[in-house]
Amino acid sequence: MPKNDKDKILVPPREIERQREYTELVKSVLLARFGGEPLAFVHTYGCQGNVSDGERIKGMLRQMGFGFTDDIKNADLVLYNTCAIREHAEDRVYGNIGALKPLKIKRSHMKIVLCGCMMQQERVVERIKNSYPFVDMVFGTHVAHRLPEFMYKLYQTGKKVFETTESSGVIAEGLPVLRDSGFKAWIPIMYGCDNFCSYCVVPYVRGRERSRDTGAVLDEVRAAVGDGCREITLLGQNVNSYAGDGGTVNFSQLLRMVNDIDGDFIIRFMTSNPKDCTEELLDTMAQCQKAAKHLHLPFQSGSDRILKAMNRRYTRSKYLELVRYARSVMPDISITSDVIVGFPGETDDDFRETLSLVDKVKFSSLFMFIFSPREGTAAAKLPDNVSREEKVKRFQELEQLQAENSIEIARSMVGKTFRVLCDDCCGNGLLSGRTEGGMTVTFAGDAKTVGSFVNVTVEENSAWNLKGSIVKK
Ligand code: SAH
Ligand code: SF4
Ligand code: F3S
Repeated sequence: MPKNDKDKILVPPREIERQREYTELVKSVLLARFGGEPLAFVHTYGCQGNVSDGERIKGMLRQMGFGFTDDIKNADLVLYNTCAIREHAEDRVYGNIGALKPLKIKRSHMKIVLCGCMMQQERVVERIKNSYPFVDMVFGTHVAHRLPEFMYKLYQTGKKVFETTESSGVIAEGLPVLRDSGFKAWIPIMYGCDNFCSYCVVPYVRGRERSRDTGAVLDEVRAAVGDGCREITLLGQNVNSYAGDGGTVNFSQLLRMVNDIDGDFIIRFMTSNPKDCTEELLDTMAQCQKAAKHLHLPFQSGSDRILKAMNRRYTRSKYLELVRYARSVMPDISITSDVIVGFPGETDDDFRETLSLVDKVKFSSLFMFIFSPREGTAAAKLPDNVSREEKVKRFQELEQLQAENSIEIARSMVGKTFRVLCDDCCGNGLLSGRTEGGMTVTFAGDAKTVGSFVNVTVEENSAWNLKGSIVKK
């Protein structure tokens, strides 16, 4: 399918309208059944893209008349929006579904709904059908916009609903959003992924890469900023290959357009794949005053041999060159990354290359994962002669190195002042917030400060935790 064959990808407005009609129908069914407001417990696993989907799901549930609860014991509906990226992620979901059984026995009217990436896998849906018969509804990532219709079926007929259609992917515009935060907005700019890194399940569960139109993205950013959002994060599995409006707008151009929107806000984006990260993008970041000087640039491995086997399509030296260029145009930029340890066939020498890259770059933070074979991916078929024990040992060695680097970076921030978006109260009159570079700082202050920018001077660090105080203007 061509990347921007819009008519095929975009869910037609009349379909969105049909779902609005279902929304009203569900609303009256629920009102008749519950009298008051039924409560939903919604939990999302996985990446920010999934969190953003979860916020749209909540938006739809809200319109159907649901309220929300954090106490699962009071819920009339439990919805898990799942992630399939590693086995551990899936195991947690199975554990949590299993734990619902006694609750379902006590509260038989409670509906259990599963959606998200795991549900795009046949073997998962089979396991749910066979081992968790108390689950009421399962739907996949490509049909999430049809939730009102599924809910109507579920509540009207009382029968189970399983909707996991295979598709190369759609874009549904015009869905309601209920954001988890009043001052942070996750804005998807594209969906799916075409890269087929050999270890990764995402292209299988999320479909082909497709970009939203710039108009839709900019409207959503404007609305979020209008609603008081101070942090806008543009999302995609590989934002650098954004191709909006029939492929005429690239990511750098989109970033400039978002930067030109009026208002006091900061722009973040993730994730950047080094293979498509260009000097043009880094120059644009440097020039866009609202763009946070923070780049999340996963490298996955420091060894060219392993990068090739991962099908990442860049080399160690290209990666290091990008980092060098980014720092030449943005001297204070904070760089964070993802890395996989124990890819099949990774030798000790390959692993030393990973350590040496981490040592060279000095990441502000690093998300480290042990390779997890995913059914259907190319890497799951590769012979793997490295023992689990050896992988864990490597992982710990890497963790140790990163811990030293993080402490070093934290120490270098002491005495300096940073603009921080205050995002939480952590008790005892303490607040916390993140710097442009994504480092968390705690400081004393009034709860009213949550959701606004403050200047904070970092005064001390214990390990990589930063403490500071607000600088009065
Ligand atoms: N699109 C992003 C990655 C999204 S998945 C990118 O290309 O960088 C987030 C991270 O999970 C990946 O960067 C990778 O480090 C890790 N990951 C993905 N599949 C994995 C697997 N099978 N085993 C272990 N880690 C994995
Ligand atoms: Fe997965 Fe690679 Fe796509 Fe990232 S770019 S989502 S790692 S296939
Ligand atoms: Fe997980 Fe799906 Fe995101 S597999 S990481 S929730 S795209």
